[in-house]
Amino acid sequence: MYTNIITSQNDGITTITINRPSKLNALNKETIQELHAAFRVADVDADTKVIIITGNGEKAFVAGADISEFADFSVSEGGKLAAKGQELLFDYVANLSTPVIAAVNGFALGGGLELAMAAHFRIASDNAKMGLPEVSLGVIPGYGGTQRLPQLVGKGRAMEMIMTAGMIDANQALQYGLVNHVTSLEELVPLAEKLAGKIMRNSSVAIGAAIKSVNAAYEDGVNGFNVEIEQFGNCFGTEDFKEGTTAFLEKRKADFPGK
Ligand code: COA
Repeated sequence: MYTNIITSQNDGITTITINRPSKLNALNKETIQELHAAFRVADVDADTKVIIITGNGEKAFVAGADISEFADFSVSEGGKLAAKGQELLFDYVANLSTPVIAAVNGFALGGGLELAMAAHFRIASDNAKMGLPEVSLGVIPGYGGTQRLPQLVGKGRAMEMIMTAGMIDANQALQYGLVNHVTSLEELVPLAEKLAGKIMRNSSVAIGAAIKSVNAAYEDGVNGFNVEIEQFGNCFGTEDFKEGTTAFLEKRKADFPGK
Protein backbone atom coordinates (compact mmCIF):
# COMPACT_ATOMS: atom_id res chain seq x y z
CA MET A 1 0.00 0.00 0.00
CA TYR A 2 2.83 2.44 0.86
CA THR A 3 6.28 2.70 -0.76
CA ASN A 4 8.28 4.52 1.90
CA ILE A 5 6.56 3.66 5.17
CA ILE A 6 5.30 0.54 6.94
CA THR A 7 2.26 0.62 9.21
CA SER A 8 1.00 -1.97 11.67
CA GLN A 9 -1.88 -2.00 14.11
CA ASN A 10 -1.81 -4.08 17.26
CA ASP A 11 -3.39 -3.90 20.74
CA GLY A 12 -4.59 -0.32 20.32
CA ILE A 13 -1.29 0.95 18.88
CA THR A 14 -0.62 1.96 15.29
CA THR A 15 3.10 1.96 14.58
CA ILE A 16 4.27 3.97 11.58
CA THR A 17 7.81 3.14 10.49
CA ILE A 18 9.60 5.31 7.96
CA ASN A 19 11.29 2.91 5.60
CA ARG A 20 13.83 4.51 3.27
CA PRO A 21 16.99 3.25 4.95
CA SER A 22 19.21 3.69 1.89
CA LYS A 23 18.52 7.46 2.19
CA LEU A 24 18.57 7.40 6.00
CA ASN A 25 14.77 7.77 5.91
CA ALA A 26 15.01 11.30 4.47
CA LEU A 27 11.60 12.88 3.94
CA ASN A 28 10.88 13.29 0.24
CA LYS A 29 7.52 14.55 -1.02
CA GLU A 30 6.09 11.07 -1.44
CA THR A 31 7.08 10.05 2.10
CA ILE A 32 5.44 13.18 3.54
CA GLN A 33 2.24 12.38 1.63
CA GLU A 34 2.29 8.77 2.79
CA LEU A 35 2.88 9.83 6.38
CA HIS A 36 -0.05 12.24 6.16
CA ALA A 37 -2.30 9.44 4.90
CA ALA A 38 -1.10 6.98 7.56
CA PHE A 39 -1.57 9.47 10.42
CA ARG A 40 -5.04 10.34 9.13
CA VAL A 41 -6.06 6.67 8.92
CA ALA A 42 -4.73 5.97 12.40
CA ASP A 43 -6.41 9.03 13.90
CA VAL A 44 -9.88 8.05 12.68
CA ASP A 45 -9.41 4.37 13.51
CA ALA A 46 -11.45 3.69 16.66
CA ASP A 47 -9.09 0.83 17.55
CA THR A 48 -6.01 3.06 17.56
CA LYS A 49 -5.46 4.70 20.94
CA VAL A 50 -1.81 5.67 20.49
CA ILE A 51 0.42 6.19 17.44
CA ILE A 52 4.16 5.44 17.53
CA ILE A 53 6.36 6.95 14.84
CA THR A 54 9.85 5.51 14.32
CA GLY A 55 12.43 4.88 11.61
CA ASN A 56 13.56 1.61 10.10
CA GLY A 57 17.13 0.46 10.61
CA GLU A 58 19.74 1.08 13.26
CA LYS A 59 21.09 4.29 11.92
CA ALA A 60 18.40 6.88 11.37
CA PHE A 61 15.02 8.03 12.56
CA VAL A 62 14.98 10.60 9.72
CA ALA A 63 18.13 12.38 8.41
CA GLY A 64 16.11 15.38 7.30
CA ALA A 65 14.09 16.65 4.41
CA ASP A 66 15.34 15.18 1.14
CA ILE A 67 17.97 17.71 0.08
CA SER A 68 18.05 16.40 -3.50
CA GLU A 69 14.44 17.48 -4.00
CA PHE A 70 14.78 21.15 -3.11
CA ALA A 71 18.36 22.02 -4.09
CA ASP A 72 17.20 24.03 -7.14
CA PHE A 73 14.04 25.59 -5.67
CA SER A 74 13.14 29.28 -6.07
CA VAL A 75 12.01 31.63 -3.27
CA SER A 76 8.33 30.89 -3.87
CA GLU A 77 8.90 27.14 -4.21
CA GLY A 78 10.84 27.19 -0.93
CA GLY A 79 8.00 28.96 0.86
CA LYS A 80 5.47 26.52 -0.54
CA LEU A 81 7.62 23.54 0.49
CA ALA A 82 7.57 24.68 4.12
CA ALA A 83 3.87 25.61 4.10
CA LYS A 84 2.76 22.34 2.52
CA GLY A 85 4.96 20.24 4.80
CA GLN A 86 3.67 21.95 7.93
CA GLU A 87 0.08 21.54 6.80
CA LEU A 88 0.37 17.90 5.74
CA LEU A 89 2.64 16.56 8.43
CA PHE A 90 4.17 18.69 11.15
CA ASP A 91 1.22 20.82 12.33
CA TYR A 92 -1.05 17.96 11.39
CA VAL A 93 0.70 15.56 13.79
CA ALA A 94 1.00 18.16 16.57
CA ASN A 95 -2.76 18.77 16.45
CA LEU A 96 -3.97 15.18 16.24
CA SER A 97 -6.24 14.16 19.09
CA THR A 98 -4.66 10.69 19.15
CA PRO A 99 -1.41 10.77 21.16
CA VAL A 100 1.74 10.43 19.06
CA ILE A 101 5.01 9.17 20.57
CA ALA A 102 8.21 9.56 18.55
CA ALA A 103 10.68 6.71 19.13
CA VAL A 104 13.93 8.26 17.89
CA ASN A 105 16.17 5.36 16.82
CA GLY A 106 19.20 7.17 15.38
CA PHE A 107 19.85 10.40 13.50
CA ALA A 108 16.98 12.89 13.83
CA LEU A 109 18.22 15.83 11.83
CA GLY A 110 16.45 18.79 10.28
CA GLY A 111 12.98 17.65 9.24
CA GLY A 112 13.60 14.47 11.25
CA LEU A 113 13.99 16.34 14.51
CA GLU A 114 11.10 18.58 13.47
CA LEU A 115 8.92 15.50 12.99
CA ALA A 116 9.96 14.14 16.39
CA MET A 117 9.20 17.56 17.93
CA ALA A 118 5.75 17.64 16.28
CA ALA A 119 4.94 14.39 18.12
CA HIS A 120 3.38 14.83 21.56
CA PHE A 121 6.50 13.52 23.28
CA ARG A 122 9.73 11.76 22.43
CA ILE A 123 11.89 8.91 23.63
CA ALA A 124 15.28 7.96 22.17
CA SER A 125 17.72 5.09 21.85
CA ASP A 126 21.20 5.69 23.21
CA ASN A 127 22.70 5.89 19.69
CA ALA A 128 20.38 8.77 18.71
CA LYS A 129 21.79 12.07 17.51
CA MET A 130 19.66 15.17 17.12
CA GLY A 131 20.17 18.51 15.47
CA LEU A 132 18.92 21.20 13.12
CA PRO A 133 21.76 21.50 10.57
CA GLU A 134 19.86 23.69 8.08
CA VAL A 135 22.06 26.78 8.37
CA SER A 136 24.99 24.62 7.21
CA LEU A 137 23.04 24.31 3.94
CA GLY A 138 22.22 28.02 3.74
CA VAL A 139 18.62 27.63 4.81
CA ILE A 140 16.74 27.59 8.15
CA PRO A 141 14.49 24.96 9.71
CA GLY A 142 11.20 25.23 7.81
CA TYR A 143 9.03 22.55 9.33
CA GLY A 144 8.44 24.26 12.67
CA GLY A 145 11.94 23.83 14.11
CA THR A 146 12.55 27.48 14.98
CA GLN A 147 9.31 27.44 17.00
CA ARG A 148 9.18 23.99 18.58
CA LEU A 149 12.84 23.66 19.60
CA PRO A 150 12.79 26.78 21.83
CA GLN A 151 9.46 25.61 23.29
CA LEU A 152 11.04 22.30 24.29
CA VAL A 153 14.58 23.22 25.33
CA GLY A 154 14.50 26.99 25.92
CA LYS A 155 15.56 29.84 23.68
CA GLY A 156 19.29 29.90 24.43
CA ARG A 157 19.84 26.19 23.86
CA ALA A 158 17.73 26.31 20.70
CA MET A 159 19.66 29.31 19.39
CA GLU A 160 22.95 27.50 20.01
CA MET A 161 21.78 24.28 18.33
CA ILE A 162 20.39 26.14 15.32
CA MET A 163 23.36 28.53 14.90
CA THR A 164 26.07 25.90 15.32
CA ALA A 165 24.14 23.34 13.21
CA GLY A 166 25.61 20.82 15.66
CA MET A 167 24.25 17.53 16.92
CA ILE A 168 23.51 16.52 20.49
CA ASP A 169 23.50 12.93 21.67
CA ALA A 170 20.66 11.14 23.42
CA ASN A 171 21.86 11.91 26.93
CA GLN A 172 22.23 15.59 26.22
CA ALA A 173 18.75 15.55 24.66
CA LEU A 174 17.50 13.94 27.86
CA GLN A 175 19.20 16.59 29.97
CA TYR A 176 17.66 19.31 27.75
CA GLY A 177 14.19 17.78 28.09
CA LEU A 178 14.03 17.22 24.34
CA VAL A 179 13.37 13.52 24.96
CA ASN A 180 11.68 12.05 28.03
CA HIS A 181 13.55 8.72 28.26
CA VAL A 182 16.65 7.08 26.81
CA THR A 183 17.03 3.35 26.42
CA SER A 184 18.82 0.79 24.24
CA LEU A 185 17.87 0.44 20.59
CA GLU A 186 16.34 -3.00 21.29
CA GLU A 187 14.22 -1.61 24.11
CA LEU A 188 13.12 1.55 22.28
CA VAL A 189 9.86 0.42 20.66
CA PRO A 190 8.98 -1.84 23.65
CA LEU A 191 9.37 1.22 25.91
CA ALA A 192 7.15 3.28 23.58
CA GLU A 193 4.59 0.45 23.73
CA LYS A 194 4.80 0.34 27.52
CA LEU A 195 4.12 4.09 27.71
CA ALA A 196 1.31 3.67 25.17
CA GLY A 197 -0.17 0.98 27.43
CA LYS A 198 -0.30 3.43 30.34
CA ILE A 199 -1.94 6.06 28.14
CA MET A 200 -4.53 3.61 26.84
CA ARG A 201 -5.92 2.90 30.30
CA ASN A 202 -7.26 6.45 30.34
CA SER A 203 -10.09 8.21 28.53
CA SER A 204 -9.14 8.87 24.91
CA VAL A 205 -11.68 11.69 24.75
CA ALA A 206 -10.14 13.38 27.78
CA ILE A 207 -6.66 12.89 26.33
CA GLY A 208 -7.75 14.57 23.08
CA ALA A 209 -9.11 17.49 25.11
CA ALA A 210 -5.86 17.70 27.08
CA ILE A 211 -3.75 17.78 23.89
CA LYS A 212 -5.91 20.61 22.54
CA SER A 213 -5.57 22.57 25.80
CA VAL A 214 -1.80 22.11 26.11
CA ASN A 215 -1.29 23.08 22.45
CA ALA A 216 -3.39 26.23 23.00
CA ALA A 217 -0.57 27.63 25.15
CA TYR A 218 1.56 27.87 22.03
CA GLU A 219 -0.99 29.39 19.68
CA ASP A 220 -0.80 33.08 18.93
CA GLY A 221 -3.78 35.09 20.07
CA VAL A 222 -5.35 32.18 21.92
CA ASN A 223 -5.89 32.21 25.67
CA GLY A 224 -4.96 28.70 26.77
CA PHE A 225 -6.72 29.06 30.12
CA ASN A 226 -9.99 29.76 28.29
CA VAL A 227 -9.45 26.77 26.01
CA GLU A 228 -8.85 24.64 29.10
CA ILE A 229 -12.08 25.86 30.71
CA GLU A 230 -14.06 25.03 27.56
CA GLN A 231 -12.45 21.61 27.12
CA PHE A 232 -12.88 20.83 30.82
CA GLY A 233 -16.59 21.66 30.57
CA ASN A 234 -17.02 19.53 27.45
CA CYS A 235 -15.67 16.49 29.28
CA PHE A 236 -18.73 16.55 31.56
CA GLY A 237 -20.88 15.67 28.55
CA THR A 238 -18.94 12.53 27.60
CA GLU A 239 -19.70 8.87 28.31
CA ASP A 240 -16.05 8.49 29.34
CA PHE A 241 -16.59 10.99 32.18
CA LYS A 242 -19.63 9.10 33.44
CA GLU A 243 -17.73 5.82 33.28
CA GLY A 244 -14.57 7.21 34.88
CA THR A 245 -16.31 8.81 37.84
CA THR A 246 -18.77 5.91 38.31
CA ALA A 247 -15.96 3.34 38.25
CA PHE A 248 -14.04 5.33 40.86
CA LEU A 249 -17.05 5.54 43.17
CA GLU A 250 -17.78 1.83 42.64
CA LYS A 251 -14.10 1.02 43.37
CA ARG A 252 -13.55 -0.74 40.04
CA LYS A 253 -11.36 -0.17 37.00
CA ALA A 254 -12.89 2.12 34.39
CA ASP A 255 -13.76 0.64 31.02
CA PHE A 256 -13.88 3.72 28.83
CA PRO A 257 -16.09 3.62 25.72
CA GLY A 258 -13.95 6.38 24.14
CA LYS A 259 -16.97 8.60 23.54
N1 COA B 1 18.47 14.18 2.00
C1 COA B 1 18.76 13.36 0.97
N2 COA B 1 19.56 12.31 1.08
C2 COA B 1 20.11 12.06 2.27
C3 COA B 1 19.86 12.87 3.40
C4 COA B 1 18.99 13.98 3.24
N3 COA B 1 18.68 14.79 4.23
N4 COA B 1 20.56 12.39 4.45
C5 COA B 1 21.21 11.31 3.99
N5 COA B 1 20.95 11.11 2.69
C6 COA B 1 21.46 10.04 1.81
C7 COA B 1 22.90 10.30 1.39
O1 COA B 1 22.93 11.19 0.29
C8 COA B 1 23.34 8.92 1.03
O2 COA B 1 22.79 8.57 -0.22
P1 COA B 1 23.72 7.84 -1.36
O3 COA B 1 24.16 6.57 -0.69
O4 COA B 1 22.78 7.64 -2.49
O5 COA B 1 24.84 8.78 -1.62
C9 COA B 1 22.64 8.05 2.07
O6 COA B 1 21.54 8.83 2.53
C10 COA B 1 23.50 7.70 3.25
O7 COA B 1 24.01 8.89 3.82
P2 COA B 1 25.58 9.18 4.08
O8 COA B 1 25.77 10.65 4.11
O9 COA B 1 26.40 8.40 3.11
O10 COA B 1 25.74 8.56 5.54
P3 COA B 1 26.86 8.96 6.62
O11 COA B 1 26.77 7.92 7.69
O12 COA B 1 28.17 9.23 5.98
O13 COA B 1 26.33 10.37 7.24
C11 COA B 1 24.68 11.93 8.09
C12 COA B 1 25.13 10.45 7.96
C13 COA B 1 23.31 11.93 8.70
C14 COA B 1 25.67 12.68 8.99
C15 COA B 1 24.66 12.57 6.68
O14 COA B 1 23.90 11.73 5.82
C16 COA B 1 24.05 13.95 6.63
O15 COA B 1 24.67 14.91 7.04
N6 COA B 1 22.80 14.06 6.10
C17 COA B 1 22.14 15.33 5.89
C18 COA B 1 21.61 15.87 7.20
C19 COA B 1 20.96 17.21 7.00
O16 COA B 1 21.60 18.20 6.69
N7 COA B 1 19.63 17.25 7.17
C20 COA B 1 18.87 18.46 7.10
C21 COA B 1 18.22 18.59 5.79
S1 COA B 1 17.33 20.11 5.70
